[in-house]
Amino acid sequence: MRILSGIQPSGALHIGNYFGMMKPAIDLQSQGECYYFIADYHSMTSLSDAAERRRNSWDVALDFLACGLDPQKSVFFRQSDLPEVTELTWIIGTLTPMGLLERAHSYKDKLAKGVAANFGLFAYPVLMAADILIYDSNLVPVGKDQKQHVEMTRDIAIKFNQTYGETFVIPEPAIREEVATVPGLDGQKMSKSYGNTVELFGEEKAMRKRIMSIVMDSRTPQEPKPDAEKNVAVQLLKLVAPSDVAVDYENRLRSGGLGYGELKKALFEHYWNHFAAARARRAELVANRDYVDQVLREGAERARAVASKVLARARTACGLGA
Ligand code: ADP
Ligand code: TRP
Repeated sequence: MRILSGIQPSGALHIGNYFGMMKPAIDLQSQGECYYFIADYHSMTSLSDAAERRRNSWDVALDFLACGLDPQKSVFFRQSDLPEVTELTWIIGTLTPMGLLERAHSYKDKLAKGVAANFGLFAYPVLMAADILIYDSNLVPVGKDQKQHVEMTRDIAIKFNQTYGETFVIPEPAIREEVATVPGLDGQKMSKSYGNTVELFGEEKAMRKRIMSIVMDSRTPQEPKPDAEKNVAVQLLKLVAPSDVAVDYENRLRSGGLGYGELKKALFEHYWNHFAAARARRAELVANRDYVDQVLREGAERARAVASKVLARARTACGLGA
């Protein structure tokens, strides 16, 4: 089974990215042949600062390796090291209906927020489909917000196969329901673009301050809180603390007597400890730039072996070349 996923280098990664996509992807390393990449072409739809893209791409590489992506088990690479994928984007784009792209939630959300749309933003799902199809991927671990993009990939692949003959593998999304959407500090979906994140590798003092400043309601500590499971700090604690500890805090909040300050302090401590080992590995990687460069270089070579074959298959199927 071939497993594939990507993440954009569009800002500091957060624990929503980690629990929604990175951890599921890392856990799948023993289940099949994994291809994971840094989606730097995709980041161009929202970021137009070259130095920032380069820095973010580097940070994503460090973060992913620190969290347990094992280059012995997975092929790890930079999307743009394989420009083959942009050729496939064109090929499948010619079979992608406008209406399909117009219905994309993430595109519609960006328009609604007043983002000035460009061709790249509109074509985003086609590039993502090319990413998935060019590696004959079976399974795509992503957070819930990416599910529609994987469904669009299926539609495009089916249409291509019907038009030009059996060419592409039809992929499935893999979504963990229990962490489908990690809430941000304001209760909305945690997202780089909402400024409500808990960074994966933030600086200690800043992260403590951020967590201690989560806004709660004005009920007194003694008051019972029958809606304790909706509390953002409780929800995040369930991700970073052992389950009996999290349940204990939830129960104390429900029955009254637990102050929000103590709850937030517990959240910070458990968050900090949860990522302590990864933080230490990350510090080692920072001092080992050559190793990280080599991982990405070798990853690109291994990825190319598959991508060039699938691209040739697609070109032949649709009558391009000799
Ligand atoms: P962001 O919304 O912060 O820009 P991305 O869109 O770059 O995040 O998402 C990268 C990956 O992380 C995707 O697979 C996405 O589904 C997952 N992800 C992002 N935010 C969350 C969240 N709050 N909960 C669960 N998964 C998430
Ligand atoms: N669109 C994805 C995101 O924002 C990133 C991505 C690009 C991706 N290409 C992909 C994810 C292919 C899975 C498979 O999170």
